Amino acid sequence: MTTIAIGCDHAGFELKEQLKAALIAWGHTVTDYGVHGTEPSDYPDQSFAVGRAVAAGDSERGLLVCGTGIGSQIAANKIPGIRACVCHDCYSARVARSHNDSNVLCLGARVVGGELAKEVLRVWLSEPFSGKERHVRRLAKIAALERERGA
Ligand code: RB5
Repeated sequence: MTTIAIGCDHAGFELKEQLKAALIAWGHTVTDYGVHGTEPSDYPDQSFAVGRAVAAGDSERGLLVCGTGIGSQIAANKIPGIRACVCHDCYSARVARSHNDSNVLCLGARVVGGELAKEVLRVWLSEPFSGKERHVRRLAKIAALERERGA
């Protein structure tokens, strides 16, 4: 079972609530960084909170939901150590884990329905990083750039 930090903006609120219920039903431990309603909000706030929680090791993984997943992905990837990926299909979710060791999943509530989002999340949570040398080497290059920038 996994500890998961979750967050959303107003556009992602309803899907975030659905996915939160699914995560809890599957036995995961969820920390919810909001938002908690559909009042307009700024996705970077929750993306940074979730990204920081994962980067600090407070949670093993993160889940962000906004309208498209794109803004959340861009914002979360500004946190050193975060590998946030928008995935709206199960193949991408699987490869985001096995090749990219993605630690934050971003979903767009205006793009995917609840059932597909749940399936993508389930696949993304269960697929391990392959650990293959070529993938480790490529991820190490990204981490080296972060260190070079003093992150
Ligand atoms: C909000 O309207 C929307 O821009 C936001 O949820 C997200 O899609 C940004 O990438």
